[in-house]
Amino acid sequence: MTAATLRTGSAPPQARPPVRPASHDQAAPAGAGDALLQVDGVTLEYATRERVVRATHRVSFDVHQADRFVLLGPSGCGKSTLLKAIGGFIAPREGEIRLDGQAVHQPGPDRIVVFQEFDQLPPWKTVKANVMFPLLASRKLGRKEAEERALDCLAKVGLSKFADAYPHTLSGGMKQRVAIARALAMQPKVLLMDEPFAALDALTRRRMQEELLALWDDVRFTLLFVTHSIEEALVVGNRILLLSPHPGRVRAEINSHQFGLHSLGGADFQATAQRIHGLLFDQ
Ligand SMILES: Nc1ncnc2c1ncn2[C@@H]1O[C@H](COP(=O)(O)OP(=O)(O)OP(=O)(O)O)[C@@H](O)[C@H]1O
Ligand SMILES: [Mg+2]
Repeated sequence: MTAATLRTGSAPPQARPPVRPASHDQAAPAGAGDALLQVDGVTLEYATRERVVRATHRVSFDVHQADRFVLLGPSGCGKSTLLKAIGGFIAPREGEIRLDGQAVHQPGPDRIVVFQEFDQLPPWKTVKANVMFPLLASRKLGRKEAEERALDCLAKVGLSKFADAYPHTLSGGMKQRVAIARALAMQPKVLLMDEPFAALDALTRRRMQEELLALWDDVRFTLLFVTHSIEEALVVGNRILLLSPHPGRVRAEINSHQFGLHSLGGADFQATAQRIHGLLFDQ
């Protein structure tokens, strides 16, 4: 069974995704206490020598367990900066990020990032050693257990045969699968993905989206996925946060769980894509 059919089966009988307009400068909505990840009025800035660059302005959203939550917005709207802040690499200027109710202050093995670049794997380690490395470095598992977990995760992404290969002998898509396996092996509370398929050709990108959804169906991890492709957001996400350009502010939140690869080209899919385009780019 494909990821698309699995998702069709679980889609609620809802024809049109409700759009919740953004209420700027407002704290997280009521009931946020249950969310796994809470981004609460977060302003992020970079201080350069000459000036301060504001990347996001009071952004709020909640990610729930097993969500496939997408951050969608044009280049420069602060998507990567938000992921870095959730990863604990930069501190908010305003607001707070909480994971399981605990404020995020530093990086941790409960938040793992998969990046766009194919060169995120140390080239001197085999595929298996790459996947084992964070498990060993964080002392999460001993060598034997780490090896078992690594082989299990490589099987999940279809790379069992390449466990002993070196990264330079793999295609871009395969390297991204290794990066995904490495992240999943850590069993993070949230898997953070920053345009992981953007550098792939169109066909491989489509296949990776399908595989990611199948993997999610299998493992039910919580995903926070960044893209600037409206189509990819609708295919991958069950909820989509639209960010306005520079500095990023929340424009709207869209429910997209009924869409998947099966809905590509359909009238409802096209209409929603159009609506998102309007929300992102109309003044
Ligand atoms: N290290 C940095 N120093 C100063 N400004 C930065 C730095 N990194 C990003 N910025 C600025 O912060 C803003 C948000 O950048 P960010 O990389 O988060 O955008 P993005 O939404 O991920 O864009 P893209 O889709 O192109 O990846 C931009 O204006 C960018 O120029
Ligand atoms: Mg980015």
